[in-house]
Amino acid sequence: MSAALSLHVAIIMDGNGRWAQRRGMPRSAGHVHGAKAVNGIVEAAAQTGIRTLTLYAFSADNWGRPSLEVDALMRLLQRYLTIETRQCVEQSIRINVIGRRDRLRPSLVRAIEQSERLTAACSRMHLRIAIDYSSQHSILEAARRVPRHGGLSALSIEEFESLLAQVDHSVADTGAVDLLIRTGGEQRLSDFLLWDCAYAELYFTDRLWPDFGEAELKAALADYSRRQRRFGKVLAAAETG
Ligand code: IPE
Ligand code: IPE
Ligand code: MG
Repeated sequence: MSAALSLHVAIIMDGNGRWAQRRGMPRSAGHVHGAKAVNGIVEAAAQTGIRTLTLYAFSADNWGRPSLEVDALMRLLQRYLTIETRQCVEQSIRINVIGRRDRLRPSLVRAIEQSERLTAACSRMHLRIAIDYSSQHSILEAARRVPRHGGLSALSIEEFESLLAQVDHSVADTGAVDLLIRTGGEQRLSDFLLWDCAYAELYFTDRLWPDFGEAELKAALADYSRRQRRFGKVLAAAETG
């Protein structure tokens, strides 16, 4: 689908717990199935020509969940990175993990660093995975890094964005989010990419994340292609009015 070319798509992958509970399974089983859905979507996104895909995998507030669930999620994330990196190299998908690293277990940090190192030269799609991520925290941390001398008054949006990228261990050329998808029926941002979504098109679906596949991604992209993005301006055709 050519409309997807060069898009930055971000996804709040929500609904794993409810997916499992509806089947009488523990919430962690939902996360296992959620990880499988990630595989499918990453491949479909790369095939569709999406330039950047940012996935919300674990929020800073998710530390507040029961420790059994947090442990299961941390193990899954490490496993995902270890197993999927080779496939990403084969498909030329660059992996980058955004969010804090100082609260992650050392083995997960090593897996992140290894994935980023091995895929650094990949250029077909940029896959960013948000782990221990809080947009408010990133913005505050970037503000703390503004140089004290000659800093604030001359600071441009681009300069602030490069500080934000540094905070998130991201690369600076990611660009704003074009389309934000949230599965699981909730219509909120839950502290995800607040800065980057300034003009993002929002797409909410009731489908729970483990049930979100290629067809659902295509439906979201088709919906996006019908949107009229104005960025505060008027369209050329309406200018004379
Ligand atoms: C999203 O699914 C995955 C994470 C937040 C890690 P949830 O675990 O939030 O699933 P629900 O919303 O409780 O169904
Ligand atoms: C947002 O989902 C975080 C991720 C999908 C990783 P949550 O389930 O944590 O968000 P709330 O609690 O519904 O806002
Ligand atoms: Mg949820």
